[in-house]
Amino acid sequence: MRSAVRRLVAGVSLAAVAFAVAAPALADDVNVGLVLPMTGPQQSTGKQEAAAAKLFMQLHGVTVAGHTIHLLLKDDGAAPDVSKRLSQDLIANDHAIALLGYGITPDALAVAPLATEAKTPVIVTAAATAMITEKSPYIARTSFTLPQASVPMADWALKNGIKKVDTLVTDYGPGIDAETWFAKEFQKGGGAVGNRLRVPLKNPDFAPVLQRVKDGKPDAVFVFVPSGFGAAFMKQFVDRGLAAAGIKLIATGDVTDDDQLDSMGDPALGVVTTHHYSADHDSPENKAFVAAFAKANGGMRPNFMAVAAYDGMDLLYRALAKAGGKTDGDSLMAAIKGQAWTSPRGPISIDPATRDIVQTIYVRKVEKKDGHLFNVEFQSIPAVKDPYKAAKAGQ
Ligand code: PHB
Repeated sequence: MRSAVRRLVAGVSLAAVAFAVAAPALADDVNVGLVLPMTGPQQSTGKQEAAAAKLFMQLHGVTVAGHTIHLLLKDDGAAPDVSKRLSQDLIANDHAIALLGYGITPDALAVAPLATEAKTPVIVTAAATAMITEKSPYIARTSFTLPQASVPMADWALKNGIKKVDTLVTDYGPGIDAETWFAKEFQKGGGAVGNRLRVPLKNPDFAPVLQRVKDGKPDAVFVFVPSGFGAAFMKQFVDRGLAAAGIKLIATGDVTDDDQLDSMGDPALGVVTTHHYSADHDSPENKAFVAAFAKANGGMRPNFMAVAAYDGMDLLYRALAKAGGKTDGDSLMAAIKGQAWTSPRGPISIDPATRDIVQTIYVRKVEKKDGHLFNVEFQSIPAVKDPYKAAKAGQ
């Protein structure tokens, strides 16, 4: 911007200067796309992430490295064909310098070829199937991977007297990752895996699979359902009498999602999960984030999706600054790799080799604090890389 103003000042008329001052950002306005499910069954992800991205800009300003950022929010309803069309439009017509969001795995997979073809950075802030970042060298991620959350859950179960586990997951990428990586780790440590049950992503009916768990009498059932389905699952778990039958519920934190946890009521008490974010995380960064998020959104509590969108914006700002204001995809991707900072969730970094997030995974238990349910962290495993990619790299 400054050079544009200088050029105009050196030019002929005062009118030109006045114009440049009145519309200072013209030459430097850049668009950033945010593609999220604002409607449909995944809309809680859209609501949380849009609020968090906007909050980041409210707190950190709209100008970075000489550019004024315009965030263009698009609703894909979590439909991959819509996600792809909107992303294409953002790239071709809006000249977006980066795309963020992607609520579910099929959406992120649909945009991957576009990212590669257009050399446009895509920061995945929600979808969490491990292999997504392998689908384009222009994809980075600030959410998590299901293997990252599931392996620590198996380790905790092994150390806490749980010997036989059924798994119950939503039948698509992240659920299959959760099932595979939990089972692998649990069996490696001497545990037994019984039924491996899956429910469809669309209109899941938990009743028949929960009956099978009940009949098989495992010590525990390990569960993954995507954000937005936790409360419905928890209700069925209680209604079907599994808790009463003494079958423990262990899960990734997607089930005890902060967006819904407080509405689940006392049946959720005591459920142990592993995840990368709790609104209850005890740090100055998180206390400030939770308070600002609540203030800007009528008291809403941020969930793990919100923190990923907040950090996605942070990553983009950091990359723009490091790239000295360059906005081409290669400069931005180079600047994204290796970024490290303290997020509201704790220390995070972007693995330069995989462009995936490295972060602390916490073991948490649902407890009541001041009359509200929270995932209270009681153990942490620092600097967890995605186990799927670490295994492939022989780490
Ligand atoms: C995904 O589709 O990758 C996904 C969605 C919601 C989650 C986790 C993963 O909570």
